Amino acid sequence: MGQTLTEKVLDDHLVDGELETGEEIGIEIDQVLTQDTTGTMVWLQFEAMGLDEVQTEIAAQYCDHQTYQFDFKNTDDHRFLRSAAGKYGAYFSRPGNGICHNVHRENFAAPGKTLLGSDSHTPTPGGLGQLAIGAGGIDVTVAMGGAPYYIEMPEIVNVRLEGELPEWATAKDVILELLRRLSVKGGVGKILEYTGPGVESLTAPERMTITNMGTELGATSSIFPTDEQTKDYLERLDRGDEYTELQPDEDAEYDDEIVVDLSDLEPLIAQPSMPDNVVPVSEVAGQDVDQVIVGSCTNGGYEDILPAAKMLEGREVNPTTEMIVAPGSKQASEMLAREGWVAEMMAAGVNFSEATCGACIGIGHVPASDSVSLRTFNRNFEGRSGIEDDNVFLCSPEVAAAAAIKGEIVDPRDLADELGDLEAPGIELPDEYDGSKTDLITPDEAPDDELVKGPNIGDVPLRDELDSDIEGEALLKMEDNITTDHIIPATQDILMYRSNIEKLSEFTLSRVDDTFAERAQEADGGFLVAGENYGQGSSREHAAMCPMYLGIESVLAQSFARIHRANLFNFGIVPLTIDEETYEEIDQGDEIEIVDDVYDAVTSGQEEFTVRVNGEDEYTATLDASERERDILAAGGKLAWTKEQAEES
Ligand code: F3S
Repeated sequence: MGQTLTEKVLDDHLVDGELETGEEIGIEIDQVLTQDTTGTMVWLQFEAMGLDEVQTEIAAQYCDHQTYQFDFKNTDDHRFLRSAAGKYGAYFSRPGNGICHNVHRENFAAPGKTLLGSDSHTPTPGGLGQLAIGAGGIDVTVAMGGAPYYIEMPEIVNVRLEGELPEWATAKDVILELLRRLSVKGGVGKILEYTGPGVESLTAPERMTITNMGTELGATSSIFPTDEQTKDYLERLDRGDEYTELQPDEDAEYDDEIVVDLSDLEPLIAQPSMPDNVVPVSEVAGQDVDQVIVGSCTNGGYEDILPAAKMLEGREVNPTTEMIVAPGSKQASEMLAREGWVAEMMAAGVNFSEATCGACIGIGHVPASDSVSLRTFNRNFEGRSGIEDDNVFLCSPEVAAAAAIKGEIVDPRDLADELGDLEAPGIELPDEYDGSKTDLITPDEAPDDELVKGPNIGDVPLRDELDSDIEGEALLKMEDNITTDHIIPATQDILMYRSNIEKLSEFTLSRVDDTFAERAQEADGGFLVAGENYGQGSSREHAAMCPMYLGIESVLAQSFARIHRANLFNFGIVPLTIDEETYEEIDQGDEIEIVDDVYDAVTSGQEEFTVRVNGEDEYTATLDASERERDILAAGGKLAWTKEQAEES
């Protein structure tokens, strides 16, 4: 039987296990990336493990999430990150140089290579045939030290694309259509492999919009085959020699198949406040729009901003609407500026911003209360924009620009009819990507060779070996789809403490219950209870690290999001799965006891645990974990486990 493209790349990197769905496999990692919110802990853990030098082909440290330096804390972090990159041999991308995924795809992403990144949208370069996976920071630390990355072999789903996109439908609509059909849980445990005759009509940047947002489906990764489009893109980046042709075998077998006829697509929009709440734009047309933002790692490329700029040429942003353009990389800004598009957009009334994540995580450009904001981003979780009563819609740059012109949500096809001279801009790649590289510092050029730790840089929190007795209060009961933004919000006032866990933990789950952190600290132990898909969203390991710091020993949930589940193991918190009935029976404040000797049960491979509630009723909870994950849990987390391993060998 032939192999899928995913199997071919995995096979090339396989160091442990077999490519059987559900089996744990270890793969060699060629490249790693980290960014500023997750990076400080990555390097502090690298230091704590006593590692000397990066072992992967490429390691890159980006500063993209918190580039505005309001006070010393962010600046301290950036200086520490630069020093760590210099000391240990990583590339360092200076604050303002752009979003990790955009800068990585411009400089390093390559077909057939593996990439592990401490950011959930790491799968972006899957559009170039790279197998890229998002993970917790400590997983990246360990991979950077040269160890394999372990993962349960996902199902491989064939997403077969047919036809070609009609005018005004875009790559963003392809992924919104998949979200509409499959939901934010539809890709869990899966790698989405794109095939079919429709693939060749999509440029590499369009493919990367799709693979970027595969994360919103919960997918482990997404990947496209490589072809003339891939080669052409790499040549325009002056990296044509990194091209390799990668295709699945003709007789490859997939676990599932989804067919999308591109020619059936129309402009779509995700309504507040979930990326899968998708409808045709025409269904919500007519709503006043206060704010429009084009940018982010999903649609912040030169090729994404150019269509919006062309639509605005000779026109004006509606006086009732504010429009912001925040490119994904300084290279994109520089090229658009040199070609005159920045001036053109500014003349139309656009506010042109630094290349940063910024507004995507509520840092700057926070919408007005209870107003409508249209964004080309990938997430619109409630409150992520920086204000609780937000109404964030997700759409393509074309739909965003149409709304900015009209001042209300409008199907761009209707606006074109109304204006008479508005043409569909289509997609256009530059002859060459020729931004300067001054903000990307190579390991050879690094100005530092010692770590520089300012007062905002704390210590790595550690947990002791797993307890045998786990009992305590159900400190918080939560619903389905709790995101890592709920657990540790990413807004500026909170995330500036990302390198200082003692302080950051005060904000744990404050968006769900602002008494939680205090109660947890007083209780010194206890449980979290949640519904389905607990921990979806960002990869930030602080969402496990802070509950651990507050003493949480176990999370009982109906299901867990992949990266967060791994982070719970990595920080010694026991993730137990419960059924709906058990979930319904447990109330916040109940006293919970795991009846089994937890240490013995975990290390002996026991799957079913007995959970006693209020000293009476007993329920079954399940620990679905590999031997390696059980060892990590028993050791008190991945840092302790990795040290143990190093001492044994
Ligand atoms: Fe940044 Fe938002 Fe992407 S935070 S990495 S632009 S999802």
